Amino acid sequence: MSATPPNADTTIEQIESLFVSRGSAWYGGEAVSQLEHALQAATFAEAEAAGPVLIVAALLHDVGHLMHELPENAAHNGVDDRHELLGATWLNEYFGMPVAEPVKMHVAAKRYLCAIDATYRMRLSPASQLSLQIQGGPMATKEATHFEEQPFFREAVRLRGWDDEAKIVGAETPTLDHFLTHVRRALLELNR
Ligand SMILES: [Fe+2]
Repeated sequence: MSATPPNADTTIEQIESLFVSRGSAWYGGEAVSQLEHALQAATFAEAEAAGPVLIVAALLHDVGHLMHELPENAAHNGVDDRHELLGATWLNEYFGMPVAEPVKMHVAAKRYLCAIDATYRMRLSPASQLSLQIQGGPMATKEATHFEEQPFFREAVRLRGWDDEAKIVGAETPTLDHFLTHVRRALLELNR
């Protein structure tokens, strides 16, 4: 982590440039692009009256996918790209833990929800069910209890719900510019 966080303009430019250069990539195994998936997740967050910080976490929860060079169908080849860790490391530098931690935990949140809700797994998309296997499968009871004790547990579970829904072909959403205003608000709120 750098001693001085980048200023808001630099952060917003970085985010914009990642989506411009990589946002049209297929969202692994789903029928929407990375940008559509991100905008839909952020739209669900906004609709549920989440604050700017969590809206930004929703928008950027898969930013790690825009950073690695693995193919979009890595899960089909049995490869866990660990995108949540890559993304969280980057986000921690720009926003700190309130954005980085829910993002880091959003894959674990799927494993958690599979453990506590028998119907959740059946509602997952086929691609998400496939990646579940290489991500470690449903949590054991002890692991699920430990997960519930983590500081950003609730945020991670909310984020997971938006992630799961954000795969609707042709859904109308606000633009990236709209959500970049939330990025600025979140940075102000987080004093970065
Ligand atoms: Fe996602």
